[in-house]
Amino acid sequence: MRLKGKVAVVTGAASGIGRAIAVRFAAEGASVVLGDVSEGGREAAESIRSAGGEALFVQADLRREAEASGLVRAAMERYGQLDVLANNAGVSGGRTVVEADESDWERIMDLNLKGAWYCCKHAIPLMIASGGGSIVNISSTHAFRTQPNHFPYQSSKAGMIAMAAGICVDFGKHGIRANSICPGFIETPLAEAFLSQFADRDRRTQAMLASHPLGRFGKPEDVAAAAVFLASDDASFISGTRLVVDGGRSALQKSD
Ligand SMILES: NC(=O)c1ccc[n+]([C@@H]2O[C@H](COP(=O)([O-])OP(=O)(O)OC[C@H]3O[C@@H](n4cnc5c(N)ncnc54)[C@H](O)[C@@H]3O)[C@@H](O)[C@H]2O)c1
Repeated sequence: MRLKGKVAVVTGAASGIGRAIAVRFAAEGASVVLGDVSEGGREAAESIRSAGGEALFVQADLRREAEASGLVRAAMERYGQLDVLANNAGVSGGRTVVEADESDWERIMDLNLKGAWYCCKHAIPLMIASGGGSIVNISSTHAFRTQPNHFPYQSSKAGMIAMAAGICVDFGKHGIRANSICPGFIETPLAEAFLSQFADRDRRTQAMLASHPLGRFGKPEDVAAAAVFLASDDASFISGTRLVVDGGRSALQKSD
């Protein structure tokens, strides 16, 4: 029960990593507000409640400031405080810097970076009023080691790390900590969509597996465990940094 008595907002909580974070936060004793544009968040909140946890679903398109603000305010209105914000909602993909156009920029940046900014902007004053808080940005290893055709995804994820550092510097004096998690390849619908685009999917999958020293892909629960740590008081002197959760993939140098 490492989050007992805490109130947490998790974005993109209908699916994949966000859902696993919401489930684990609730299992650790937090009251959890699940924010997602998809109605699937309602079922996720119901499943947490039926397992004995406390959860509320708020439908929100986080590309819109009023909806991001409404999401974090819902935590105050329902539970009277806000201690943790996990900025997880995101979309991937992209093209090269030359090929990308305004629509690629808006589709990815408007959610991954601007949506996270909106949530932070409106959550931080509520966290200060609650006596402090912890922000956990779900970035990506793409922030520092990317693949072809991932602009502006990789830039949005690098921006999330820099934004967390900025929050650490500006609001540390108010007891706000902000950190980023950089997951590697995690088995979710988003990762499935990535693999499905390749005609030689099986060969790709095997090559991806071979790039993981631990011999497996990550699970959403692997990221959720890291998020619990950074959200909890166990990480009370950790701020402005990043935690890589990639099964050792970014430590491996290719030998062929
Ligand atoms: N899966 C991976 O391998 C991996 C690796 C590194 C980082 N990440 C990051 O983790 C996060 C979660 O990814 P996932 O794999 O669980 O993806 P996912 O597609 O399973 O979940 C993303 C969630 O975001 C929600 N969402 C989409 N648009 C939204 C909007 N406008 N407003 C609110 N919610 C919206 C979706 O409805 C969905 O529930 C993303 O930020 C992604 O970039 C994923």
